[in-house]
Amino acid sequence: MTTAPSSTTQAAPETRRTLNFSAGPAILPEAVLRQAQADLWSIDGTGIGIMEHSHRGPVFDRVIEEAEADCRKLANISDDYSVLFLQGGATMQFAMIPMNFLTEGRVADYPDTGVWASKAIKEARLFGDVNVAFDGSRHQYDHVPTDEELSLSDNAAFLHYCSNNTIYGTRYLTPPNTDAPLVCDASSEMFSRPIDIDRHTLIYAGAQKNLGPSGVTLVIIRKDFMEQGREGLPTMLDYRKHAKGGSRVNTPPTFGIYIMGQVFKWLLDQGGLEGIERINERKASYLYDAIDQSGGFYRGVARADCRSVMNVSFRTPSDELDARFLDEAAANDMDGLKGHRDAGGLRASIYNAFPEAGCRTLAEFMADFARRNG
Ligand SMILES: Cc1ncc(COP(=O)(O)O)c(C=O)c1O
Repeated sequence: MTTAPSSTTQAAPETRRTLNFSAGPAILPEAVLRQAQADLWSIDGTGIGIMEHSHRGPVFDRVIEEAEADCRKLANISDDYSVLFLQGGATMQFAMIPMNFLTEGRVADYPDTGVWASKAIKEARLFGDVNVAFDGSRHQYDHVPTDEELSLSDNAAFLHYCSNNTIYGTRYLTPPNTDAPLVCDASSEMFSRPIDIDRHTLIYAGAQKNLGPSGVTLVIIRKDFMEQGREGLPTMLDYRKHAKGGSRVNTPPTFGIYIMGQVFKWLLDQGGLEGIERINERKASYLYDAIDQSGGFYRGVARADCRSVMNVSFRTPSDELDARFLDEAAANDMDGLKGHRDAGGLRASIYNAFPEAGCRTLAEFMADFARRNG
């Protein structure tokens, strides 16, 4: 017989929700959180919560199989690819990719488009030669390279790019053009728009922005490329071993995988990637319109031709006004709008789960703030 949780440990239920513009961990879909609330207590009528089930039992078998199947359905991922649920965040991938694939005598191309791309470069240098194919720091990272701006190496082991630069709010409209295997850090925009999987060799994303809680990383990797990985690596750093073990070579982040699976179902309900893209484009346009129609009061960090639809980075005319903006936004129940310390200013992260009405609310607040302080 199940018993209710002890009343002494129960906090009063909080019904209010703040508009959460955090860059990550970030807002999750309400429907997912409500389902998770129920499944935390008991899932599939078992009387055992999702976090309490064995990672080798039938309930978790179903959870992980459905998560993979829904992921494949969402992005049209063929059997040529493995779908893996790993740990260590996107940062682990910064090291794991070159550790596996930047082998003796090879060079890898890395366009540097911001803080995260730079960190990936730093890790890759631990294992081999890196060609910085574009140096965005020379332009304060205000844009991603056109194909003409890329200086690529001959016969690169792979090209690694960051499709959406969370801090500066830039994104590639289309992947860079290269003959080398294409590797993508899509952490801050994964499944926010259709993605051409077949153009890529490996795509990865830490979950905590668009896919679920922190602690799980989605990796989609082409099997023939995976087989070329370096031999003799530790189990947890070898893609082949994760693929062979069905992402269960050890105890995986079961709750994170469960939430990711729920997010995939929610995305399918939104009309899949085409559907969520239409919503995301609309959401971002409210904020970019507020910037562009402010008579120069707000300045966007990203060049207009490569503006991110997920992270809108901007500034008011002064640090003092940025601070006032944050204070007044907080008083209006809007949180997480401070820019990253490397870019300064302000940033609104409006991932898939962020509500469209919340974007309109911020846009109206921005217009009003500019009127009062311009
Ligand atoms: C584009 C991008 N890549 C990588 C990371 C690092 O992710 P993690 O904390 O999962 O290692 C982040 C984190 O914000 C990011 O935005």
